[in-house]
Amino acid sequence: MLAANSSEMQGDSVMQAGKPTQGRAFLAVEQVSKRFGGPGGFLALDGVSLSVGQGELLCLLGPSGCGKTTLLRIIAGLEREDAGRIHAGARELTGLPPQARDYGILFQSYALFPNLTVAQNVAYGLHGRGMGRTHRDARVAEMLDLVGLAGSERKFPGQLSGGQQQRVAMARALAPAPSLLLLDEPMSALDARVREHLRVELRQLQRRLNITTVMVTHDQEEAMTMADRIAVMDGGRIVQAGTPAEIYEQPASAFVAGFVGQANWLPGHSAPAGRFTIGEGSQAVELQVDAPQPLAGAGRLCCRPEAVRLDPDPAEPNRLLARVVDQTYLGNRYRLALQADRLPGLTLFADVAREARHRLPEAGGHKFWIALPAPALRVFA
Ligand SMILES: Nc1ncnc2c1ncn2[C@@H]1O[C@H](COP(=O)(O)OP(=O)(O)OP(=O)(O)O)[C@@H](O)[C@H]1O
Ligand SMILES: [Mg+2]
Repeated sequence: MLAANSSEMQGDSVMQAGKPTQGRAFLAVEQVSKRFGGPGGFLALDGVSLSVGQGELLCLLGPSGCGKTTLLRIIAGLEREDAGRIHAGARELTGLPPQARDYGILFQSYALFPNLTVAQNVAYGLHGRGMGRTHRDARVAEMLDLVGLAGSERKFPGQLSGGQQQRVAMARALAPAPSLLLLDEPMSALDARVREHLRVELRQLQRRLNITTVMVTHDQEEAMTMADRIAVMDGGRIVQAGTPAEIYEQPASAFVAGFVGQANWLPGHSAPAGRFTIGEGSQAVELQVDAPQPLAGAGRLCCRPEAVRLDPDPAEPNRLLARVVDQTYLGNRYRLALQADRLPGLTLFADVAREARHRLPEAGGHKFWIALPAPALRVFA
C-alpha cells in the first residue's frame, strides 16, 4: 500500500453541506453504505453522512471494526460504495478512480520504498506531472524542510527512526499539494513519546497548510487533542459528530460517553421534575439532573470523575457523605475511589489535583461531603 497522490485538479467553488465548524464545507459524504460479501453480507457502513470544512481536521473515532478505514478508503476511491455520493469542493468524486481524486494518504505503516532514498520517496508522487528535475528537487527539499528533515535527501528509510520515516511518508503525501489529506492511524505504529511529539507537529503542519483532513483513530486522546471535530462511529454509523468539548461534555449516548473519557455509571430511574432516583423506598437517593432526561424509566446516570465535587458548599444539591477507600496516582492528579454512605455497593471515582489531595482524608480516614453537580450529570436510557 503506497501513499498515493492523485491529480492536481481542484474544485474552486464550494458546496454547502452539513455543519463544519471551520470555513466552508469542502468534503461532503452523503448517505454512503457498504456491504462486504454481496447481498446478505456484512454491512460495514450504514448510510453515513459527513461534512468537513475547508481546512478542518476531522477525526473518525470508534472501536475496532466500526467502519473507519472502510469510510476512508471509499473517500479515497480505493473501495467502491454500494450507495451514496461524495463531493470535494464543487466536484463529485463518486465513481472517480483514486488518481483523479486529488488527495494525499497516509497509513499506519509508512510504506516507504526501502531501496529508494528519502528524496526519491518524496519525489515519487511528483513524477508524470511534467515537472522538471530542478523544480522537483526544490519541491522535495521544501517538503523535507516542512517536516523537519531538511538535509536527509540521500538517506535510506532503514537509516531513519520510525518517527522520521513517518515524517517522510507525510512529506510524500503532501508533495503534490493535494486538497485533501487522508490519514489512517498514522501514528499507531510509533511509541508513546514519539507519537505525542508527532501529534503536535502534524497538527501544526495541517493548520499551516490549511489542508482539509480526515484522520482515522481509535485513540480518544489523539482525537481529543488533534481534532477540530470528531465523528464517533459505532457499527457502521456515525453516532455523534461535534467538537471535542461537545462530544466529551454532551455525549449523545451511553456509548459515546463510555468510549470517550472515563465515567461513573450509576443505575437508577428517571423521575419527574429533573430527578433521578437510585435505590428503592426509604433508602432511595434522589439526585437533581439539569440536562434533559429520557422518558421516565430505568436508566444510567453518568458523571465524569473530574466533575465530582469534593468538600462542596453546603447549599450544593446532590451532596453525599463518603470516605476514600483507595487512590491511584496519575501524575498531575489522583483518582480517588470513594464509597458513599447512601450508595452501598457502588464505588465512585473522583479526580483531585495533586495540590488539593492533602486537604482530604487518607484511605480509610473520616467521612466528608462530596457532591455530584447537577449540570455535570447525564442520564441515558
Ligand atoms: N474487504 C473486506 N471484506 C470483508 N469484510 C471487510 C473487508 N474490509 C473490512 N471488512 C469488515 O468491515 C468492518 C469494518 O472494517 P474497517 O476496517 O473499516 O474497521 P475499522 O473501524 O477501520 O477497524 P480498526 O480500528 O480495527 O482498523 C469489519 O468488521 C471488517 O471485518
Ligand atoms: Mg482501520
